[in-house]
Amino acid sequence: MSNTFINDVNEGLSKPNKSLSSKYFYDKIGDAIFVEIMNMPEYYLTNAEMDIFKNQTQGIITSLELNPQIPFELIELGAGDGTKTKHLLKKLDENGYDFKYFPIDISQNALDQLERSLNTELPNINVSKQQGDYFDILASLKATNTQKVVLFLGSNIGNLTDDSAKQFITELSNVLNTNDKVLLGVDLIKPESIVLPAYNDSQGITKRFNLNLLSRINKELKANFDIKAFNHIPEYTENEGIARSYLVSTKAQSVTIDELNKTFTFYEGEKIHTETSRKYNDTILNNILENSNLEVVTKLMDSNLYFADYILKKR
Ligand code: AVI
Repeated sequence: MSNTFINDVNEGLSKPNKSLSSKYFYDKIGDAIFVEIMNMPEYYLTNAEMDIFKNQTQGIITSLELNPQIPFELIELGAGDGTKTKHLLKKLDENGYDFKYFPIDISQNALDQLERSLNTELPNINVSKQQGDYFDILASLKATNTQKVVLFLGSNIGNLTDDSAKQFITELSNVLNTNDKVLLGVDLIKPESIVLPAYNDSQGITKRFNLNLLSRINKELKANFDIKAFNHIPEYTENEGIARSYLVSTKAQSVTIDELNKTFTFYEGEKIHTETSRKYNDTILNNILENSNLEVVTKLMDSNLYFADYILKKR
């Protein structure tokens, strides 16, 4: 990971339009700040999807066409703290379904915490965690012929560009067998007055989250970013349905990254693009599914119609 991190940082900061990948937000500190984000009043996404998992658990199980007699693998990409999934796991456990849970996450720390909490809260559940990047993990999913249900929740797919999301969904569909399912949670397009505060909260939690990326580079790559000399600026247009976060240099400055033996200059107002959070509707989703063998079976929405969990079936 560390080598890829150095190379990605070098590549991102060397471009005319500087960028850093949001996948590097999630070190131990970033994980903890993301938990704070999920609990913020402005970050409606978590509560909206929680509403679906809490109040439509049986609907999810029915749409997934699960049978207590047939063993299956429940694979979760980007499991995080698993709070929403626990509602589904509990119901499956209570109703005697025969399954194994495979949480996958880029953060080892998040996985360790999730495993510990499952061992105490739902001790019957057979858990096998795996750390890694979603794309790298895909090949390993092919290992068994057991029926698979892949959970990709929290609008995590929205942090990929549409091209990458398309490629990912196509590759995912290629490792699945006919009748395997995907439960894809996506944030729906809605007005700026609702979306923008979710990425620009009043307490400055998201700002800390974004700036932590620079602190991480300082620590891990021996750099000298002056954290106070960058602002957190999110943007969103309902028309496009994409929220983007930037770190903006408040002055002309240069930053040296010792591990790269290189200095990068920033002009006043220069932006580093750090995150894309795409919002969806049926047309955008169908475009993402276009080259895959996955089709929509059911769309479950929360009571505010903010968020959708699409259940997809491999043809
Ligand atoms: C993980 N991901 C779906 C979050 C999002 O909404 O794009 C990450 C996040 N970034 C800022 N706030 C939350």
